[in-house]
Amino acid sequence: MRSAIFALGATVFLTLAWPTVAEEEVRNFDDDLERVEEALRSNPGRVMPSAINSCRQQYGYAMKLYHMGMETRARRSLDYCFKTLEIPKDASVEEIAEISQEELRSAAEKEYDKAMALTPDLKNGLAIYRQCAACHQPEGWGRARGGVPQIAGQHKRVVIRQLADFRSANRDSVVMIPYASPEAIGGPQAIADVAGYIDSLEISVGNGKGPGDNLAAGEALYTDYCAECHGANGEGNNAELVPRIQAQHYRYLVRQFEWIRDGKRRNSNEEMVAQIQGFDDRDISAVMDYVSRLQPPEELQAPAGWSNPDFD
Ligand code: HEC
Ligand code: HEC
Repeated sequence: MRSAIFALGATVFLTLAWPTVAEEEVRNFDDDLERVEEALRSNPGRVMPSAINSCRQQYGYAMKLYHMGMETRARRSLDYCFKTLEIPKDASVEEIAEISQEELRSAAEKEYDKAMALTPDLKNGLAIYRQCAACHQPEGWGRARGGVPQIAGQHKRVVIRQLADFRSANRDSVVMIPYASPEAIGGPQAIADVAGYIDSLEISVGNGKGPGDNLAAGEALYTDYCAECHGANGEGNNAELVPRIQAQHYRYLVRQFEWIRDGKRRNSNEEMVAQIQGFDDRDISAVMDYVSRLQPPEELQAPAGWSNPDFD
């Protein structure tokens, strides 16, 4: 609302009050404003909401300062936005609006390939994992209510791929992205290390389960629509990059499934997306309830009362 008023003010000002300003300059300032506005909408750098908020504020100042004739200071405020929103300076508005799926995907693939070629250093993996444990817990079990997934025992390739996707903004998560970033943990070697460590953690079967009222239907759906990729028991497939979903928290499964179905999770498997278009809420609940109760083989399960000795 406030910026709308500023915007109106600036337009009136530009067209009526200061006709002597070189047209070139006016256009550039307006172009920059437009690019910042577009970036506020589309968030091309996938930056944190706090960065968006502080840019919004600077955007307001820029309008005000420009209006008052302080163009240099106004530009400084806009420059701040270019920096915090990670807008490429030389790109046009159109190019920013379309940082394409293809580009995101190929950046992620490059990093995935690099990390895959490296041998994980598990000691460094643990050192990195200590930061992850704040949310994923020392054991990697996440939260039973599903806000944070269990990642213990997830296939190494899957973890590397998901981390590479978060880092290149090929998968969204305002929570995960800053922690997975190269600034936070380092380059491809760091991804390989932490993925190796996560793979070695034992899996909890005390995960969050569904309501348990429609399991037969869930099993039938699972067998017909999921087992060919995720395996008879939800064990996934490291070589094929299919995630382990057995013993995952019910609510996390439901959320991810809906995001994948609706295209909100950009890095999804296209075949899976096609396969699940017809699922309604009741089907999703039934199949995820069933999946949340599938268990890994005993040798991958954490014994009762186990806690991660690396954190003692
Ligand atoms: C501030 C909390 C937080 C921290 C710290 C954190 N994560 Fe996460 N992580 C999450 C949440 C929440 C999700 C689920 C994102 C979503 O809903 O798509 C997630 C998802 C993931 C996934 C994808 C799991 C899947 O099933 O696809 C991986 C892998 C992962 N995190 C690894 C890590 C690693 C490695 C670190 C440390 C470098 C880390 N996380 C730090 C909260 C966190
Ligand atoms: C054609 C193969 C295929 C089929 C069929 C398929 N999936 Fe997937 N699924 C994948 C792949 C590959 C991924 C990982 C890529 C991604 O991130 O979307 C995935 C990801 C997922 C995830 C996200 C896991 C995570 O850790 O974040 C869930 C949940 C899931 N699938 C559930 C299902 C269910 C339930 C069905 C059946 C109704 C199903 N999938 C059918 C291949 C498939």
